[in-house]
Amino acid sequence: MEPRLFGSFVEHMGRCVYTGVFEPGHPLADPDGFRTDVLELTRELGVTLVRYPGGNFVSNYRWEDGVGPVEERPARLDLAWRSLESNAFGLNEFMAWAAKAGVEPMMALNLGTRGVAEALELVEYANYPGGTRLSDLRRAHGVDKPHDVRLWCLGNELDGPWQMGHKTAREYGRLAAETARALKRFDQDLSLVACGSSNSGMPTFGSWEAEVLEATYEMVDYISLHAYYDPSDGDVDSFLASGADMDHMIRSIAATADHVGAKLRSRKKIKLSFDEWNVWYQSRFHGESSLEWAGHPRLIEDDYDVTDAVVVGSLLITLLRNADRVGVACQAQLANVIAPIRTEPGGPAWRQTIFHPFALTARYARGEVLRVEPECASISTGRYGETPAIWATATHDDTTGEITLFAVNRDRNAPCALDVTLPAGLAPVEHLELADEDPSARNSAEHPDRVVPRPGSGLRLEDRRASLTLPPVSWSIVRFAPQE
Ligand code: AHR
Repeated sequence: MEPRLFGSFVEHMGRCVYTGVFEPGHPLADPDGFRTDVLELTRELGVTLVRYPGGNFVSNYRWEDGVGPVEERPARLDLAWRSLESNAFGLNEFMAWAAKAGVEPMMALNLGTRGVAEALELVEYANYPGGTRLSDLRRAHGVDKPHDVRLWCLGNELDGPWQMGHKTAREYGRLAAETARALKRFDQDLSLVACGSSNSGMPTFGSWEAEVLEATYEMVDYISLHAYYDPSDGDVDSFLASGADMDHMIRSIAATADHVGAKLRSRKKIKLSFDEWNVWYQSRFHGESSLEWAGHPRLIEDDYDVTDAVVVGSLLITLLRNADRVGVACQAQLANVIAPIRTEPGGPAWRQTIFHPFALTARYARGEVLRVEPECASISTGRYGETPAIWATATHDDTTGEITLFAVNRDRNAPCALDVTLPAGLAPVEHLELADEDPSARNSAEHPDRVVPRPGSGLRLEDRRASLTLPPVSWSIVRFAPQE
């Protein structure tokens, strides 16, 4: 399992950057203007990697606007979110923030309104040690050592008609291939992500990936997947089973990539970068054109409840179950914008319900992922048919000998008994669950800990058999460690 599975995403959108991670003048801001409360929560969340600066934002972004003396940086129109971008926060600020947060940066390139030359210039500015115009410019900007960013996205969602510089698969495949060729000439060890479909409902889902990979196969390392699950149509059973869709997407795109590899007679395996995933009440958002021009408005600041947290837990289980193929994953986004961390300008920061399954999974999923196929009752869903009520996975950490079990019960009405046969010599050391009498309970600035994981009850161990009960609509973690 790759640590890069526990990624997140910081986009110049709404209040993710401004008054999210960056708020000079906030009582808890450090000398760089970074909110230390958000930095602490980011570390607690266990995020390993952060994608930046977009998202749709990147497709009309000029990275040069965000470097150099702040007072000389131009304000620009961000067409993706109809926002006024001050450029007070840019590449070097993000890299300084990422170092403080202890996360790996994943940079996205603008292949919407820009091309190969600008991509190369950014990579030279960011990664070349010195002695060239752009590397010396970085040094003149006070950053002596290269950032050495290893992971680059070749654009964002270019199959989407909403994207600035939207392209056909043929157009994008050609541009991505030419950009990848140039970047690999600069440094053959860079890891590159080609854009896959924006979601599985796109009319070109599958054929887009096939055409793009035919053009780029030997030059890229990953193909991207994006998926947002919307609870707002009232079909709660299907929403709870969203992991079935994510699982299907992963298998479909892995099969598509392997089909292209077979046609090209290549022995290389393309990995998957699930670099945008989350729960998003998308039907509350009325589209980019409905937005009034503003600085950094409150955009898609969804308040998450217990059911949303159970779904986020189940999506993490799905990513782990596919860890042999998914090498990168980023929950979108980190702060305020459909995010586990919420803030108020000048005020507090708090953990949303979805923070908790992410933090515990990132902390305890270690080592190898074990194949877990529970035998259980199913629930009937409108979108995915009969779906197993229990969705689970487990990891085995070779160094400590610990086995950690992650499980959700997607049944809204009935608890589910879970029996696990363990290897000899293991005993439970921790059992936590996220569930509530009221599945619509949420956290807020006033009640930041209304929903937190609580110790589970009734876990029994007889010989090597552990038994527990999963409450309806719940996410659980059980850690087993070798006995002394
Ligand atoms: O995360 C919000 C937006 O969702 C991103 O900007 C875009 O890539 C996706 O459509």
